[in-house]
Order: sequence, then C-alpha cells, then structure tokens
Amino acid sequence: MRASFRGRDFLTLMDYSPKEIEVILEVAADLKRKWARREPHEYLRGRTIAMIFEKHSTRTRFSFQAGIAHLGAQSFYATPETMQLARGEPIKDTARVIDRYCDALVIRTYGQEIVEEYARYMRNPVINALTDLVHPCQALADLMTIREYKGRIRGLKLAYVGDPWNVCHSLMVASSLMGMNMYIALPRGWSPNKRISEFAEENSERHGCEIVVTEDLREALESADVVYANTFHSMGHKDIEERKKAFAGYQINSETLSWAKPDAIFMHCLPGYRGEEMTDEVIEGPQSAVWDQAENRMHTEKAVLALVVP
Ligand code: CP
Ligand code: NVA
Repeated sequence: MRASFRGRDFLTLMDYSPKEIEVILEVAADLKRKWARREPHEYLRGRTIAMIFEKHSTRTRFSFQAGIAHLGAQSFYATPETMQLARGEPIKDTARVIDRYCDALVIRTYGQEIVEEYARYMRNPVINALTDLVHPCQALADLMTIREYKGRIRGLKLAYVGDPWNVCHSLMVASSLMGMNMYIALPRGWSPNKRISEFAEENSERHGCEIVVTEDLREALESADVVYANTFHSMGHKDIEERKKAFAGYQINSETLSWAKPDAIFMHCLPGYRGEEMTDEVIEGPQSAVWDQAENRMHTEKAVLALVVP
C-alpha cells in the first residue's frame, strides 16, 4: 500500500479514496500505540521537512514538529516574511529550491491555489497544513477521535456550528467519503463553498449518508453523536464583530448540547472562544473530547508523513 502513497501530495482529502483514508487512520493508530509504549519508529531517519506558515498556529506547528522528530527526521520552520518571498521571489522559484533540500513541504497559507502552485513545482510531496478552503490534517484527526470514542464513523450524525470555512469543508469532504451524516447549522445567508458542497453531495449519495445545511440549530443537534464547534471568525476575516452578531444564536452551551444524544461527544478544532461558539462548561465538561482530538493531530500527521515522504 505504501507504494501508492509515496511521493503523493496531501492537498485535500478530495484526492484520497475512502480506502486510502482508512489506511492513513490505521497507520496513525499503530503510530499512536508505538508512541505510547515509547517504541522507536524512526521511519524517516535522515529526511528533512520544510515548513512554511503564513498564518498563526499552535497545534499544527507543534504536532508536526514533534511528530517529525519522533520519525527521526528534521524540520525547518519559516514564515514568508523571513524569506525572499517577502521581497518578491516567485513561489515557483522558492518551490524548486526547497525541493532540492527537503523531502517534503508542510505549508499553511491562504489560497488553495498557493499550495497547488508549490505542488506543481516540487517533485517531493506538499502537505496542506490549512488553507482558506480546507484543513485536511484536522479532518483526519477528527475521524480518528470519533472512531476512538464511538467505535465507528459510518452512520453516525455529526452536528457542526461555526464558520463555513476550511474546517467545515474538510469535515464535509471526510463525512461524505466515510458515510457519516453531517448537519451544518448556519444563519440565513451563510453557506459552505460551492465546489465543496458539490463534492459532498455527490459523494454522500455514493456512500449512503447526508450532508445537510440548516438554519435550525435544534434540527442539527437532535440525535447527534458528535457535536463539533469552530470559531465564527477564522483567520483572515476582518468582519469579526459582524460575524459574532450573525452567529450569536448558534452557541453550544449546556442547554443546546442537551439536545444531542446523552452520550454525544463535544469536539472543537481549537483555538476556541469561550462565550462565543461554546461555553466554558462545555469545553471543560465530561462530554469534551477536545484534548484527545488535539493529540490525534500528531498521530495522523505522522501517518501522512510516513506514507507520502519518499
Ligand atoms: N486546529 C488547528 O489547526 O490549530 P492551530 O491553528 O493552532 O494549528
Ligand atoms: N477555521 C479556523 C481554523 C483554525 C484551526 C481558521 O481558519 O482560523
């Protein structure tokens, strides 16, 4: 199986089949067991991984750098303003140069077309660490966490509140591929990206689940197995106060969480804003799975690296 992954970019889960996603999750579970037992797993000894982050990050940066160290490789972290990119060097030149030194590039940026351009000019794999469009590394950790808590993914119902942006989009892609029902609660006038919605519609039909957008928070939450919150104001948005107002009725608190199944888990990609998309009692409460979810970022990213790095 590794042969079918080696050298491949990881730009969006739309490029991966349900079977391939299963393989990544299996490798992640194995790496998690090895890590817990302190068993060495230096599958990438001597390799070098570049990391370019154009937006803030805590989880993605540290989980990748820790994971790369566990795998026996070295990471180099840079922000574009410290690179010649800031002085006008084109992406296509930057990409070809990094490709001569490093075995992969992990990149967090704005447009999906930016990661696609790096991928076009690099022979070695490019891994998307978040764009405006998608956050595929997050969705892998989400799937792993859901399976750990619920024993399965297919047939469950996930309710999502928050910005219809990268995290929402990757969850729509992942849910539609893995047969999980997803209800997205959004105020009138807000909707996910069209290309993602079309992908989700087509694949949910194929894989026997539904991806539903509703204004009705109760409809989204009723009988949900997983309640997922994300910020109302993703990185890059300037209209923060307007968004907080528009989304004000879409908070996960003790009352709204009680509309879901009694054994529902609460998830959040983090960073979270207490008093906005969720309350302190929910994120700190007994249904919260957020710290395991954050830990699983590292295991799933290690799996992607172990599979795709040549
Ligand atoms: N969830 C996530 O990607 O967190 P960071 O922005 O801290 O990396
Ligand atoms: N949607 C959020 C996710 C952060 C991990 C953002 O883009 O800011």
